[in-house]
Amino acid sequence: MSKIILTGDRPTGRLHVGHYVGSLRGRVELQNAGEYDKIFIMIADAQALTDNADNPEKVRQNIIEVALDYLSCGLDPARSTLFIQSQIQELAELSFYYMNLVTVSRLQRNPTVKAEIQMRNFETSIPVGFFTYPISQAADITAFQATTVPVGEDQLPMIEQCREIVRKFNAVYGETLTEPEALVPKSQVCGRLPGTDGKAKMSKSLGNCIYLSDTADEVRAKIMSMFTDPNHLKITDPGSLEGNTVFTYLDAFCKEEHFGRYLPEYANLDELKGHYQRGGLGDVKVKKFLNAVMQEELEPIRARRSELERQIPAIYEILKKGSEAARETAAQTMAAVKAAMKINYFEDAALIAEQASRYGEK
Ligand code: TRP
Repeated sequence: MSKIILTGDRPTGRLHVGHYVGSLRGRVELQNAGEYDKIFIMIADAQALTDNADNPEKVRQNIIEVALDYLSCGLDPARSTLFIQSQIQELAELSFYYMNLVTVSRLQRNPTVKAEIQMRNFETSIPVGFFTYPISQAADITAFQATTVPVGEDQLPMIEQCREIVRKFNAVYGETLTEPEALVPKSQVCGRLPGTDGKAKMSKSLGNCIYLSDTADEVRAKIMSMFTDPNHLKITDPGSLEGNTVFTYLDAFCKEEHFGRYLPEYANLDELKGHYQRGGLGDVKVKKFLNAVMQEELEPIRARRSELERQIPAIYEILKKGSEAARETAAQTMAAVKAAMKINYFEDAALIAEQASRYGEK
């Protein structure tokens, strides 16, 4: 069986370092390792519209931002198909049939949907399209017969729901769809990077994100004002690592080689943590180290982005070509689905012949 990746992001803003360590960095590694037969990366504009129906301009403007972030991180259109969800009409068609395989109560139990409904204060006025987006996400994944879906931890319930739809479809209509597996980052920290204020989730409205496209100065300022241990008042005080955002970010970004370059007094992160916990290590020193580490990773991304920002029409051309290629694949799956469901009447010579002879015999 071929190994196929599908994943994507909603274009509601520029991508931040949470997206990066949670999924984007891993996708680029997977792409470059060359072990997958096909990689589809989708800008999920239709899904973004499920909770931004009254603000289509926001979605429209952010498609290019996400594309710029993808390309500047190293996704390569020669090796990965980058496309826009709304341009693949088969996704809507598949969703329409999958809806019959899912109950309302199952959707209500989806933990991601539950959390997002709360976050958006939708409790009494949930748009139906939003409520059913796990179904459309199953269409996204299965349309490409994806075997592997690299995502952050928060998306695990979506993949589980997709797997259920696949099993149900295959049980009712015969083996047609591929059951995908989620691929989450190895380290827990990377699956869920907190905001710079220490809050669990990074979000634009909370203003606690470091964006991939932030300038070096913006990144430095955000790091220097990061949430640490509120009880670590004097340098000599023992410090706590629990919920200490600076150390969480170091867990996600720091490699041993960084110590030689930027903080040679310590051999590795464990030594640095040990000193912090014993007392005698100030927050500013740790933050400066984190800044050096993150700038090293973000600088090449920033540099590529500023190149790419001068090639907007070419990027739309990449997305157009990618969308055309993606449609071809989705159309093949759609044909298989229709055949399995036996709603491909005009291609079903046996059906027509059988009915003709039934009526003919009378
Ligand atoms: N729900 C994902 C997010 O919010 C985006 C997405 C849409 C997606 N369709 C997908 C991710 C299919 C993986 C597979 O980030």
